[in-house]
Amino acid sequence: MQKFSKRVRAAGLRLGLVPTMGFLHAGHLSLVAKARKLCDVVVVSIFVNPTQFGAGEDFKKYPRDLPRDLKLLRQTGVAAVFYPSATEVYPPDFQTEVKVKALSANLCGLSRPAHFAGVATVVLKLFNIVRPDVAVFGQKDYQQLLVIKKMVADLNLGVKIMAGSIIREKNGLAMSSRNRYLGVADRHWAAKLYAALIYGKKLIKRGERGVAQLKKQILHRLRQDKKIKIEYLEVLNAANLDPLAKIRGKVLIALAVRLAGVRLIDNIIVETG
Ligand code: PAF
Repeated sequence: MQKFSKRVRAAGLRLGLVPTMGFLHAGHLSLVAKARKLCDVVVVSIFVNPTQFGAGEDFKKYPRDLPRDLKLLRQTGVAAVFYPSATEVYPPDFQTEVKVKALSANLCGLSRPAHFAGVATVVLKLFNIVRPDVAVFGQKDYQQLLVIKKMVADLNLGVKIMAGSIIREKNGLAMSSRNRYLGVADRHWAAKLYAALIYGKKLIKRGERGVAQLKKQILHRLRQDKKIKIEYLEVLNAANLDPLAKIRGKVLIALAVRLAGVRLIDNIIVETG
């Protein structure tokens, strides 16, 4: 991978990276398409990163299907797929960890305290190996996107981070490799998450400016569906995840729930002008 990247850069070509954990779907393919528009050469990495999974999480059963992924990628014009083994990425004496402290602390960080350190560390390794000019991440993992942008800024990595829009199923469910765990009926319930976010956006557009009132109304709607166990629903400053006294500027409405034992996240950005 390093030799390949060196050749690309020596030829003066712009290199793009789309980091993934595989089991690709239309969301990933849209990130690849974005990278292709911005770069001459695009690399996709596929690595189910053990350090971003907590104890008791789904690392072992996380869906993996490399032949299927390679088949999908063949149609996208990517130049190379990087799929290192776990021991290549983390040799037995591996000791280093990258922590983006405040941004990793709330939202998903509350229930997954080691998650973002695992993400930041592996993404830094991928950046150092692939040496991309541009890297594209999905906006569904909004907190992850901010954590990576902050790491790039704080450590002067010189990689341009681009965000790809959330790609949704017809019913509104945000695409995710973990949707694989959902049955047909669960997918129907999962569609309520996006409906709740859209409802929140409508309330803001209609003039709601109280954070507590907005959360209350969205939560009331979500709680009507008894199958949905809410982990968090937050309304925050979209630039830095700071709490808001009043709704204004660019606002993030983010949620995490459990449905049929599957953890799902989703979010929406609302510009209040
Ligand atoms: O978003 C993901 O798929 C992963 O968190 C990432 C960025 C590939 C790091 O393992």
